[in-house]
Parts: sequence; C-alpha cells; structure tokens
Amino acid sequence: MTLHAPPPPLSGRDPANLRGDAITGDRYFSSEFAQREWDMLWTRIWHIAGRTAEMPEPGDYVVHNFMKESVICIRQEDGSVRAFYNSCAHRGMRMVGQSSSADMIACPYHGWRYGLDGVLVHAQDPEDFPQGNPCGKLKLRELRCDTWGGFVWYTMAEQGPSLAEYLAPMPDVYRNYPMDTAVRVAWYRIALNANWKFVTDNFSESYHTRTAHPQVPPWIDQDVDTARHEMWPSGHGRTVQPMRPSLSDRLPEHLPHPYKMILQAWGIDPDSYASYEDLAMQGWLDLKAAKRRLWKERGYVHYEHMNDEELTDSPHTVIFPNVTISFLPDNLVFFRSEPHPDDPGKCYFDLWCMAFPVEGQETVESIMAGPRPLKEATECEHRDFDAGRGIPELAGQIVYQDMELAEGMQAGLHSKGYQDAYLSAQETRVRFFHEVLNDWLEGRRP
Ligand SMILES: [Fe+2]
Repeated sequence: MTLHAPPPPLSGRDPANLRGDAITGDRYFSSEFAQREWDMLWTRIWHIAGRTAEMPEPGDYVVHNFMKESVICIRQEDGSVRAFYNSCAHRGMRMVGQSSSADMIACPYHGWRYGLDGVLVHAQDPEDFPQGNPCGKLKLRELRCDTWGGFVWYTMAEQGPSLAEYLAPMPDVYRNYPMDTAVRVAWYRIALNANWKFVTDNFSESYHTRTAHPQVPPWIDQDVDTARHEMWPSGHGRTVQPMRPSLSDRLPEHLPHPYKMILQAWGIDPDSYASYEDLAMQGWLDLKAAKRRLWKERGYVHYEHMNDEELTDSPHTVIFPNVTISFLPDNLVFFRSEPHPDDPGKCYFDLWCMAFPVEGQETVESIMAGPRPLKEATECEHRDFDAGRGIPELAGQIVYQDMELAEGMQAGLHSKGYQDAYLSAQETRVRFFHEVLNDWLEGRRP
C-alpha cells in the first residue's frame, strides 16, 4: 500500500455531521435486521481471518468461521496468501476445523485433496466421472484476500473496494506503527449475551469511562475537552486521549500512581514537580522528550518513526463496522465482535492483546490481560462470559468491566421504555456508526 498524509477527519464531537437516524432497540434483537446485516453488510465488508504471524510458511493456514460461513486463508509457495471457502467442490463438506498446516487441503468424507492453490489434485476413482476427471479441473471457490497491519483479511464480495480502499485512511493514519512486529500475547474469544453492536457502540465513546472504569482517569485523561474525536465518512473513527492524569479526577496522595511509575521508568522524578498540574502537563512533555532521547539505547525499536503524540498517547480506533484497535505506545489491543449465527442477542467478543517487542524484555504488560510472557499465544481461549465467571483472570480489567455491562444493555434495549438514544456531543460517533450501517443496509455503500 502506498502511504501518504491522511485526509482531514470530520469532527466526531459535532452532531451537525449526523442525519439523526434513530438507534432503535429492534436493531439489537430482530432476526430480520440480523438477516439484512448478513445480506448487505457481512457478505460485503473485509473480515480479519487471523495474524500473518500464524502462517509464516507455505501451507500454513488459518480458518475463520463467521456465522455459518467458513473460510481458509493459506500461505502460498510464493509467500502470498489466498483465501478459499471451506467447502469441498465435491459435495460441499466442510473440510478443516481449525488453523493448522498442510501440504494439501484434504476432505475427510471422500478423500478429495486440493493443492495450496485450491486446485483439486486427487480424487478417488477419477475416471468414474461421466463429466470428466475432476483433477486439475475443479477448484475450491476463491475469495479476495490481502494483508494489512499484520492481519490477514478477506472479503466475500467479488466486486467492490480493495482492502486499501476499504481501510482508508487508517493505513496512512497509522503508518508510523510497525504493526507487523506486534506479538499477540493474549488471545481470547468470549461468548457474550449481547448483540455485536454493543461492542462498537461502547468503543465509539469514552463518556462511560468515569462510571465504568474509575481506574482510568488518573492514567488516561478523560476530561471532555482534552480528547480529540475524529471520524471519516467510511465509518472509521477514533478518540485520541493524552495518557496523562486527568486534572479533575485525582487519586488520593497515598495511593500508588500509575502515571508516576511510567515517569520513573523513563528516568523522571515525579516528585520534582511543584504542583499536580505541573506533574500532569510538564511531566507528559518531559516523558515524550525522555522517550525520544532514550528509545534506542533501551531497545524500544518500535518508537523509531512515532511522532510526539504516538510516543505517549492513546488513539482508540474503530474500523467500521466491528473492529477496534487501541493503539498504545507499547501495545496494540484488538477487539472485535462477531454475531452469533442464530441469535441476534448474542455475539462473540475477540480480545487480542499484542505488544511490541522491546530488546531485553521477556515479560510485557498486556494492558487488558495483565503481565504475559513476550511470545505468541499458540491457541485461542474460548470462554463463555457467564456473568464474569467464565473468565476470572480478567476480573477488574477495563475490558471485563465493559463485558459486565453488555447483558444489562441488551436487556434494556428490549424495553418499551426505550425509543432512541439521547446522546452527548462526545457520543456523536455512536449515532454515526448506526447511520453508516444504515447506508450499507439500504444499499448506498460501498
Ligand atoms: Fe469501556
């Protein structure tokens, strides 16, 4: 992809950018609405199948099951990645269950085998087909496939935007992050009793942070006027918040302060500032300067191309419609929601905690899942949230607090007492998400 300066965003805090489409409850539980999302959205957008790091060698493949569909993305001899429907050209059998590695894709039913390029190379009794030997002739049905950010993407749409067009301007916006190098250290897929849109709604605003995540303001400034709310006509958007203490929520003096520990880690004495305001504001500038000065000798190679904002701040980013990536100086946190195949009131919530390798560090702070060894998680942990009981090791984490709210939100949306959201300006992106979704559902996109 060619990278250039991104186009200016729309204000994500200005309701003048909205039409005012209602966010009605049925969007979250109606089967007809979910069917329309399948027909008009999911079969037309680009999906992430996995990380490129999962498939370094030819024959390595990842399987992505989405609702009732299943797709195999497989590394080719020439290093490219191609995607095929996971459905045998013989009778339609689903051939492989999970990501793995093979010289050929073999169907367990009648033994047909396909090369990495999807062409059938072996069939039992090939001369018994009156219509002709299928070998060398039949092929798995192929999908468009591409990579960006260390992720493998595919789309079921035969026509339509390329991945670069679909993602624009995000590859430009995040051109300074060496995303391919990030290591996925924690990997979860959690069944939640909420519609998939709860997750995008939730990540499109920070208005809930003070109530739901009281531990955050002393670390990431939540004051309404310090955040930058940005959105693009495609539906992608982000909230950029300084990672410095909010001046209006202060931790009691005696408590350990996460921000002070960050300053200390970069050789700055937090007690050298005359006031709390100084600590927050000048300390934040001093942190940027210290990182700029010390990154190389400390092995923070991922800082090489980052700008002053990226060195310290938190651009929390939604890629329409269901992917969120929190870009942090040392981490990428990936969140995604995917609909349950049958029940619009349920979804699967993916949490991938990724960290940029730092020379000499063997353990990393994963941000959402606590300290982890710096190595690729080999298997996805499938859990049922079950009011938190299914994932006790995440208790108290930001993402756990969000999941705790999902079921109550889903329940409330069924109420006759709810008709539309009454949004603050800083929640503009929530309604904008639904308006862009409506554009897709009504055939005005892509
Ligand atoms: Fe949250």
